[in-house]
Amino acid sequence: MATPKQARFVTVEGSEGAGKSTNIQVLNEVLDARNIPYHNTREPGGTSLAEDLREIVLQPRDEEVDDLTELLLIFAARRQHVKNIIQPRLANGEWVVCDRFTDASYAYQGAARGLDRGIIDTLRDWVQEGLEPDLTLYFDVSPEIGAERIANREHDRLEREQYEFFKAVREGYLDLAREQPRINIIDASAELDAVQASVRTLFERYVDSALVQGSGS
Ligand code: TMP
Repeated sequence: MATPKQARFVTVEGSEGAGKSTNIQVLNEVLDARNIPYHNTREPGGTSLAEDLREIVLQPRDEEVDDLTELLLIFAARRQHVKNIIQPRLANGEWVVCDRFTDASYAYQGAARGLDRGIIDTLRDWVQEGLEPDLTLYFDVSPEIGAERIANREHDRLEREQYEFFKAVREGYLDLAREQPRINIIDASAELDAVQASVRTLFERYVDSALVQGSGS
């Protein structure tokens, strides 16, 4: 069993249609195979209050939503999620696998909406109090492929954005990945089987080395 020392905070990022959900199943299989306790969660969301805020953020509406209002709602949800779920679970020795986290705020509200990065840095510092993901998998697809993959489902308020928006989201993520070694870029335009195989290999190595570190001193 994992100990608190070994527990890791793993986040999964990507544009619409990048295939995050199916790849989260691969992460779960790797953890299951090693009897490691974990909790799957998502943002915005992950607690009852934060899921309500998610609805508010994603619901299409007639009123124009101010960019800063959107960011503040997302960070309010994040605070609740960090305090009530992420921190306690990690402290209890569980790995936390989170579908999106603050990198999404830099990509969507920062790079795509154009909000000042300094505002996001400040909110991150207040809300996370030093908590950062240990490992992030960013599933990268072009906006064209992403749009094709979600063409047949009903679009929420953000999915209704246009090509230029998703192009900026992608550039935002790629810039973050260049800056931060914890972010691994996965080419999600390849066949699903091939993507899953590379995710499995990467994550198995990561988990096994975390277990070795945890079993040390
Ligand atoms: P998803 O379930 O497809 O990941 O939907 C969540 C949406 O919320 C997605 O369009 C990205 C958006 N989002 C932000 O704009 N900023 C954030 O910080 C987070 C976590 C999500």
